[in-house]
Amino acid sequence: MSFAKTRLWQDMRPASSASRAAVSTALRSATASSAAACSARSTRRWASSAATARLLKDAGCRVPLLCGPMYPGSNPELVAAVSRAGALGIVQPLSLTHLYGYDFREGLRKVKAEADGRPFGVNITIVPDKRYMKRVDEWMRVALEEGVKFFLTSLGKPDALVKLAHDHGAKVYHDVHTAELARRAAGAGADGVNLLNDRMGGQTGATDPFALLDEVAKLDLGVPLVCSGGVADAAAFAAALDRGYGGCMMGTRFLATDECAVSDAYKAAIVASGEADIVYTNKLAGTKSSVIRTPTIEAGGLNVNPLFGFLLKQPMTKNLMRVFLLQRSLANYKDTTLEIWQAGKGVGAIDRVEPVAAVVDRFAAQLAR
Ligand SMILES: Cc1cc2nc3c(=O)[nH]c(=O)nc-3n(C[C@H](O)[C@H](O)[C@H](O)COP(=O)(O)O)c2cc1C
Repeated sequence: MSFAKTRLWQDMRPASSASRAAVSTALRSATASSAAACSARSTRRWASSAATARLLKDAGCRVPLLCGPMYPGSNPELVAAVSRAGALGIVQPLSLTHLYGYDFREGLRKVKAEADGRPFGVNITIVPDKRYMKRVDEWMRVALEEGVKFFLTSLGKPDALVKLAHDHGAKVYHDVHTAELARRAAGAGADGVNLLNDRMGGQTGATDPFALLDEVAKLDLGVPLVCSGGVADAAAFAAALDRGYGGCMMGTRFLATDECAVSDAYKAAIVASGEADIVYTNKLAGTKSSVIRTPTIEAGGLNVNPLFGFLLKQPMTKNLMRVFLLQRSLANYKDTTLEIWQAGKGVGAIDRVEPVAAVVDRFAAQLAR
């Protein structure tokens, strides 16, 4: 860790620890103001929650916890370790192939071999690009041939992939960040919806986790709702389930594990950071991405230049600009020592790098209390 960076974080420490206390309040305090309040009473409620039961059945896992697809971060060892521990690891195809250098089928077989026969999922991003969608079709075909039974779809309309998956006895959960998109996803046949909130790492949503849950719950879609963002400790996990989510998806907490292949400096930054160290930038993907405020991020500024900003607002050019920025980022993300580090607001609850099984066991123990 460079001196400058150490200083930066030390300088931020008071704000970080102050916000650390507040970090989980959004997640923790809906029905419980502390972990203690997440008592056996609520535990029994989770066990009998139809949404959780259905998520566990759909995902084939023991703990209603999913490791979200991450570029970078979803190396096969991490995905396999999460599934082996009883949660659900999800493959990010571009990470597997472009970043970690596997042929897609070989990569899936590696995950399968290391997951000790436990199921894992595959993320499929639906974009309006014929060439990319040809690759997507191929990834779906190979994944189904390799026995994958759970898909997480992002962006686009999932109906065709839902049909294909259902024909093979597989389930599809779809990423959404608004109630309207949740309604459409369920209408397209998705078996569950993953609600992306404003605390998550990566390209974030815009709404508080519980406000989003309330909006979607009103629609009574009849499918499990997954909380994606800001969950990084067992208490927040418990609070989310207690409040009505069927399960949680985590990314940031799983980055700071022994099995994750991101650099040690990235993991150390997650451990050292608090909520106040998370800032938003549109330079990575043209939309709001949450990253740790490092000297590199500060030096580069958080926003694209005015010309790019203008082009990002124009209907004719906004998608082109996003693809351009994303492609540039894909190259930068390859080297995780570069200090361009995506992370969510749950960082404040992460105080050590540890094995995946320790994380999953701790979360599972909270449910078993
Ligand atoms: C480093 C990083 C990379 C991510 N990359 C992707 C991605 O490529 N595709 C995707 O659908 N979500 C991506 N996400 C979002 C995660 O799948 C997950 O929804 C999110 O991390 C949950 O929020 P949390 O980080 O607060 O736990 C990424 C998140 C992080 C932290």
